[in-house]
Amino acid sequence: MIDQRMPPLADTICLSQDLASGGRGIEFQVVKNEEILPAFAVRFRGVVYAYINRCSHMQLKLNFINDDFFDFDRDHLICATHGALYDATSGACLGGPCSGLGLVPLPVKELEGRVALSDNSSVTILNEDP
Ligand code: FES
Repeated sequence: MIDQRMPPLADTICLSQDLASGGRGIEFQVVKNEEILPAFAVRFRGVVYAYINRCSHMQLKLNFINDDFFDFDRDHLICATHGALYDATSGACLGGPCSGLGLVPLPVKELEGRVALSDNSSVTILNEDP
């Protein structure tokens, strides 16, 4: 019997265990209006959040070469390029060159050990399988 609460596998971002609270994030790609966009998910204070991975300052990815999106204190999301700070729970700009502009959030849910896009998401995960 199929569990109707389970999100479709195509919407799965990662396993719940892949995201430690305040730890490294997971990068993935989404398709929105036929455009491929970088995205990431992190866990903060036990809750998973996901955003389009574009700083509002210069449209660059927040991270350089690894999947670490938090500042030194693990309290905020930070852009590695010029240090814009974002609220991990909303993506709102908290300081630096983001000039009041926040990150674009992606609605996610966590169910049965998986993190997935919510049903009301306006994007789809890019499936790189042939
Ligand atoms: S590109 Fe992110 S702070 Fe400048």
